[in-house]
Amino acid sequence: MEFTKKILCIGAGYVGGPTMSVIAAKCPQYKVTVVDINAARIDAWNSDNLPIYEPGLLDVVKEARGRNLFFSTEIDAAIDEAEIIFVSVNTPTKDFGEGAGKAANLQYWEATARNIAKVARSTKIIIEKSTLPVRTAEAMCRILNSNSKGIRFEVLSNPEFLAEGTAIEDLNNPDRVLIGAPQTPEGLTAQNEVVEIYANWVPKERIVTSNVWSTELSKLVANAFLAQRISSINSISALCEKTEADITEVSHNIGMDSRIGNRFLVSSVGFGGSCFKKDILNLVYICETYGLTEVAKYWESVVEMNEYQKRRFVQTMLHAMFNTIAGKRIALFGFAFKADTGDTREAPAIDIAKQLLDEHANVVITDPKALDNARIDLEEYGDKFEFIDDPYEAAKGAHAIAVMTEWKEYKSLDYKKILASMEHPSFIFDGRNILDHKALFELGFNVFPLGQPSLKHY
Ligand code: UDX
Ligand code: UDX
Repeated sequence: MEFTKKILCIGAGYVGGPTMSVIAAKCPQYKVTVVDINAARIDAWNSDNLPIYEPGLLDVVKEARGRNLFFSTEIDAAIDEAEIIFVSVNTPTKDFGEGAGKAANLQYWEATARNIAKVARSTKIIIEKSTLPVRTAEAMCRILNSNSKGIRFEVLSNPEFLAEGTAIEDLNNPDRVLIGAPQTPEGLTAQNEVVEIYANWVPKERIVTSNVWSTELSKLVANAFLAQRISSINSISALCEKTEADITEVSHNIGMDSRIGNRFLVSSVGFGGSCFKKDILNLVYICETYGLTEVAKYWESVVEMNEYQKRRFVQTMLHAMFNTIAGKRIALFGFAFKADTGDTREAPAIDIAKQLLDEHANVVITDPKALDNARIDLEEYGDKFEFIDDPYEAAKGAHAIAVMTEWKEYKSLDYKKILASMEHPSFIFDGRNILDHKALFELGFNVFPLGQPSLKHY
C-alpha cells in the first residue's frame, strides 16, 4: 500500500509511544515510525511486554504494529524518509549552571534538531510534542534553518495533554488539540497538514489553531492551573484537620459551583508525575527572566504547598505513633505517582519513603505495577528499603500502613486479616482517602484520613 503521509516521532516515551500508536491505529493510510536512542526501549515496543504500562495500549499497538506502525533505532534513515517529525524527547529540569533547578534542559531537544538538520535532504515539518519554554520553537527554527542545503523547516507546536493511566482514552477523545504555527503562508500550510492528521478522528471544533507562542504557553499554563487546584485543596485539607470540617465534603460542595467545576479537587498526599513540578518551575523561571518577580513567586508557592503537604503527612504519622517511628515497620501501599501506571517520576511516595527513613523507620514498599521503578528510585539506599509484591506480606508485622497511591485493589483487601498480622496498636494513614475509614476503625485500626477527623481508639 502507498502511504499518503510519512510521520516520524523521535522519543518513544510515555508521550511519544502512545500518541503515535493512536495516530497509526486511527490513520492506516499513514506510515508512522517511532525511533529512540534507547534500543532496549524499542525492543520492548516491538514485544508484547511494552516499556510502559497503560490500560488499552497493547491492543492499540497490536492493531497497527507491522501494518503502518514501526518502532526502530534507525534514527537517521527515518528522519530522511519522514515528511512530518514529532519531537518527543525528554526535557527535564536543568540540574546544572544557570537556571539549575528550574529551567528546562533543552540539550536533547537541540541535539535532535541539529541531527535533523544534518540528515534531512528535503523540506519537513517539525513538531514540538515535548513541553518547552515559550519561544523555544523560534530558537529551534534558527538552528534547523541555518543548514547550508537550502532546506526549509517549519517548526510547529502541538503539545500533548494526555494523562497517564487514561492516555488511550485521552488520545481517542481529547478535549482539544492545540496546533500552533508561524503565521506565514508556509507556516499556515504546515498547520493545515497537521490539522488534517487529527481531523481523522477529532471533531474539527476541538482542533484549535493559533500562533506558536500561545500554544507553547498554553501547555505550561494548563499544567500550572491543574497543579494549583491540587495545592489549593491540599492547603484546605490542613485547615480541615484543625477545624473538624471534612475535605471531601468541602470539595464536593465547592465543585458543585459550575464556575469552579468538580474535577481535580481530590486532596492527596501531594501531586507527582513528570510534568507538574517541572512545568511550574519552568514557568517560574521564565517569569523571573522577564523580571516578573511577583508572578514567579505566586506560581512557585504551588510547588511549595506540595512539598509542605508531604512533610505534613510524615509529621502526622510521627505524632500519631507516639512521636517515634524508629525501628517500626511501616508499609507503603502504592509507590506510583497515581493509579493505573507504573510511573514513579516525582511520586510523593519517594519523598515520604526518604523522610520515614530519616526517622529510622523500617519502610516496606508494595505496588502492583511500580516496584521495578521504585527500586531504581531508591537504589542509592542499598537494602535500607524492602520491596514486596504482596500487600498482605508487606503489612505483616507492621505498625502502620500508609496509602500512597489510589490503586483500587487496596480498597478491597481483607483488612481484618491484615490487622491480625500487624503490631498493635495498628495505624492506617490514608494519603488518598480511598478506604472505608469507619469500617477500618470498627475493625480496630487507628485511622488518619486526609483533611478529616482522625478515628482513634486511645
Ligand atoms: C517527554 C518530556 O519529558 C515532556 O516534557 C514532554 O511533555 C513529552 O515528552 P515522556 O514521553 O514522558 O515526556 O518522556 P520519556 O518517557 O523520558 O521519553 C523520552 C524518550 O526520548 C526516551 O525514551 C529517550 O530515550 C528518548 N530520547 C531522548 C531520544 O530518543 N533521543 C534523545 O536525544 C533524548
Ligand atoms: C498531567 C496532566 O493532567 C496532563 O494533561 C499533562 O499532559 C501531563 O501532566 P499526569 O501527570 O499523567 O498528567 O496525571 P494527572 O492525572 O494530571 O495527575 C497528576 C498528579 O496529581 C498525580 O500525582 C495525581 O494523583 C494528583 N492529583 C490529581 C491529585 O492529587 N488530586 C486530583 O484531584 C487530581
